[in-house]
Amino acid sequence: MIKNCLNNDIFLAGVNDRTTDLFEGLWPIDGVGISYNSYIIKDSKNVLVDLSKSFKTDEFFDQISAIVNLEDLDYVIINHMEPDHTGVLRTLRRINSKFEIICTKKAVKMLKDYYDVCDNIRVVEDGETLSTGKHELVFYHVPFVHWPETMVTYDKSSSILFSCDAFGGYGALQGAFFDDEYSEITYYEKESLRYYANIVAKFSTPVLNAITKLGLLDIKTIAPSHGLVWRKNPERIVELYKKWAKYSINGGENGITLLYGTMYGNTENMMNAVAQGISESGMIPEIFDVARTHPSYILPSMLKNRGIIIGAPTYEVSLFPYMQQVIQKAVIKNIKHKKVAYFGSYGWSKGAYKKVQEMTSGMDWDIHEGLEFAGRVTPELYNEGCELGKRFVKSLEN
Ligand SMILES: Cc1cc2nc3c(=O)[nH]c(=O)nc-3n(C[C@H](O)[C@H](O)[C@H](O)COP(=O)(O)O)c2cc1C
Ligand SMILES: [Fe+2]
Ligand SMILES: [Fe+2]
Repeated sequence: MIKNCLNNDIFLAGVNDRTTDLFEGLWPIDGVGISYNSYIIKDSKNVLVDLSKSFKTDEFFDQISAIVNLEDLDYVIINHMEPDHTGVLRTLRRINSKFEIICTKKAVKMLKDYYDVCDNIRVVEDGETLSTGKHELVFYHVPFVHWPETMVTYDKSSSILFSCDAFGGYGALQGAFFDDEYSEITYYEKESLRYYANIVAKFSTPVLNAITKLGLLDIKTIAPSHGLVWRKNPERIVELYKKWAKYSINGGENGITLLYGTMYGNTENMMNAVAQGISESGMIPEIFDVARTHPSYILPSMLKNRGIIIGAPTYEVSLFPYMQQVIQKAVIKNIKHKKVAYFGSYGWSKGAYKKVQEMTSGMDWDIHEGLEFAGRVTPELYNEGCELGKRFVKSLEN
C-alpha cells in the first residue's frame, strides 16, 4: 500500500500482514491482521520514518522506490528497534550504505546486536531537531513506549506526529488509511484496546508521561506504525490511550469480568449462580471461558473492569491451568488495583484459592470472597453463589 499522505511530500508506505497468526509469537491476530506503516518524507533530503518487518520486503521496497530511489535515501529514522519496524534494515543497508540512521543513544547497541549495523548512525538527544529542507523534524524520547530506546518524531511544518507503537492498534488496513475514510471505527478502537492490553499496558506510566510531554505540541495528525492514521480526530486516539493507561492506576471502570474454567461442570454451575446474582443487582458481567478464549481477548476486559471474579476448580492441589495462564498474563501486564472474588469446586484437598492469592500478591487485588465447595452445587450453594454475586456488586460501590 502506498498513499500520498497528509500533504504532497509525505507518503505512507507499508505492508498489511494478514498471515502472521501470533503477533510477538504470542497474541492471535488471525482474522484481523496488522499493518506495519512506514513514512516517506520527500524533501531536499529524503527520509524514511520507521521500516517494516522483514516480510514482503520486495513489496515494501517497491513502494518506496515508486517515490524515492532507495539509493537516494538520506536518513532513516528508527523511532523504535523492535523487529516489526526494523526487520528490513540489513537488506536496505546492503542496497544503500550511505544513509544516516537517526536514533536514540540506547538504540546504538541494539543496531549492532540485531543487525550488525555500526556506521552512519546519528544519535539524537531529546528535543533535538533535523532540517530536511522544507521540513523540520523534532525528536522526543519516550522511553518504554514500547522499549527503552523508543522515541517519536514530530514534523513541525505539517504538525504530524510519527508515533510508532504509541496510538497504534491491531487490524490490517482495508484499502483506506485515515480515520475519516471509515464510517465506522469501532472495530479499530476495539482492536486498539486489545493491542493496548496485550502490548502496551505494562508501560502505562511511560505512556502517560509521553502524553503529558507531547501534549504541548500542536498535533494535526497522528501517524502511528500500526493501524489507522488519525487526521480527522487525532484527539480521539490520544484520549483513548490516556483512559486505558489510567486503568492501571485507578483500577478501571465500574464493571465485572467473570472468568471461569471447569472440567465437569460444577464450577460452571456456580458461575451461573454468581452471574444471576450480579444481574439481579443490575449489572451484566462479561463472562469468559478461560479454556476456550485466548487471554489476548480477556485482558482488555480485565484491564477495563474494576471487578474480577475468578471461578476455577482445584487441579492437582493448585489452580486449573488455563486460569493460571490468564492470571499470569494479567500480572505480567500490570493489571492492578482490582476488587476480586474467587469460587470453585474441589474433590478432596482444595488448593486453587490459595494459588490465586499467591499469584496476585503485590497486585493490589482485594480478594474479599473465597467460596470453595466440595463437589456439586447444591440448591443451598446455588443461593450462596447468587448472594456472592450480589455482595460483589455492592462492594464495587464502595
Ligand atoms: C486431573 C485432576 C486433578 C485434580 N486434582 C485435585 C486436587 O489436587 N485436589 C482436589 O481437591 N481436587 C482435585 N481434583 C478434583 C476436582 O477439583 C473436582 O472434581 C471438582 O469438582 C471439579 O470441578 P469442575 O466440575 O468445575 O471441573 C482434580 C480433578 C482432576 C480431573
Ligand atoms: Fe514495539
Ligand atoms: Fe510495533
